[in-house]
Amino acid sequence: MVPGIARATSKDATTAPRDNGFEAAANTWKTPLGTRPTVPIQEVPCVTKDRHGSTGVKPQMTTINDNGLSDLILASPSDAQAQWSRFEGVRGFSSELVAGLSDADASGQSMPDASPSKWHLAHTTWFFETFVLRDFVPGYRLFDPAFAFLYNSYYEAEGDRLARPFRGMLTRPSLDEVLEYRRHVDIAMMRVIDDLPAPARDLLLLGCNHEEQHQELLLTDLLHLFAQNPLLPRAFVPNVGLIGCATDASRWIEGRRGPVEIGHDGRGFAFDCEGPRHMVWLAPHALADRLVTNREWRAFMDDDGYRTAHLWLSDGWAWVRHNRIEAPMYWCRDETGDWCRQFGLGGVVSLDPACPVQHVSYYEADAFARWAGTRLPTEAEWESAADGALATRGVFLDYPCAVRPTRARAGDGVRQLFGDLWEWTASPFVAYAGFRPAPGAVGEYNGKFMSGQFVLRGGSCATPRGHVRASYRNFFYPHQRWQFTGVRLAKDLSCLPMNTHWICASSMPIRHFVAMC
Ligand SMILES: [Fe+2]
Repeated sequence: MVPGIARATSKDATTAPRDNGFEAAANTWKTPLGTRPTVPIQEVPCVTKDRHGSTGVKPQMTTINDNGLSDLILASPSDAQAQWSRFEGVRGFSSELVAGLSDADASGQSMPDASPSKWHLAHTTWFFETFVLRDFVPGYRLFDPAFAFLYNSYYEAEGDRLARPFRGMLTRPSLDEVLEYRRHVDIAMMRVIDDLPAPARDLLLLGCNHEEQHQELLLTDLLHLFAQNPLLPRAFVPNVGLIGCATDASRWIEGRRGPVEIGHDGRGFAFDCEGPRHMVWLAPHALADRLVTNREWRAFMDDDGYRTAHLWLSDGWAWVRHNRIEAPMYWCRDETGDWCRQFGLGGVVSLDPACPVQHVSYYEADAFARWAGTRLPTEAEWESAADGALATRGVFLDYPCAVRPTRARAGDGVRQLFGDLWEWTASPFVAYAGFRPAPGAVGEYNGKFMSGQFVLRGGSCATPRGHVRASYRNFFYPHQRWQFTGVRLAKDLSCLPMNTHWICASSMPIRHFVAMC
């Protein structure tokens, strides 16, 4: 049983009548997965408060589909059990991530792009409360109607909201109150989860995937917050067991060429922006078989990479100069001025030359690739290489620890595709042909952000295991680097001679060669 939910149910069972979001009192519940509600949804009164505090009659939960059958009838026990297990796991894991944080830790906001941990916990809860409980469960009573303003992120269809740069002003509600909000919604969800109609089950699944995204954001925002503290505190105890994997020279692996299909095939969950599946044409190319390392990045720095204008995009060069960028984010100098340390969620550690370089922007990734005489992969090249690979294998976020990528393990083929670090691609985040956002507020989830951002692929050490797949498209602005971002190189094969060694613009400490073409 996940701690957060276990506490909620056991407490509820012993302190009834307690307001769990319903007019009906608590009952004794039991399911194979733990203590669960058994109140038939039809017994829950239909009068509820809307998000503005007024009362009204919500639509009946049971719906009739095109076959004339109730969606409630169509929910198989295995589906319900899987949904419950998924929901319980995701919600409980969020609680685990903040178990060691003080209210102050969870309230700080270090920059407008980041949000307090407490806000992530509440926002993900608001998502379930709004799009599932409010919209599909008659009798559900909002925990606090004011939370819609506090914890709506960007959904215009849901009305006004607190501007993101001011989320750190929310010293209240406290962390304890936010956790109470989570328990309230968790219990309400548990009481109805078996009986949700199909559209609500889809939103439940979307909510679980949404919360997994915020688990990663919570960690990256927490890291950025702690990095502003001169004491450089650590959030988690370092997991030294992650270090010690083998590393070897980078090699070029020829990619597929010609027509290939990319995009989600419709089997299982995917975000809307991953489809439709479609055909693309790939020119002859090769991908580096692993991520760029700290040692290779040091070579770029030692060759004045950050001070050589012709390596940079115009916007990137302006960004470097304006912000006086001279190293990846979170790199630290020692007493001699040497870049030999790195700050992370496990505190300050020595920079491992063989580990992948992390926390670099698209601008930096692009400049590095140009310096190396290569380029970044397109998202189609990346996906074609990842198609068929096991997306759950790699360095992911399994439990709170010192989240960090590791050295590439020895092996053949393209390594480190999943996990470790999000890989910048050269592809702008735009809609695939035929893309249609979902109707309603959740249609704002991805589509309206298709402007000025670049696609990243593969997940990271801060991504919950099982969250990503080959078609998964993350996206950030080119100057942003507080996420767990890294670099994989690519290059064209058609313009290069066969079987030649690639000579780098600098003294790269590893051997490269061009694959057969
Ligand atoms: Fe969100």
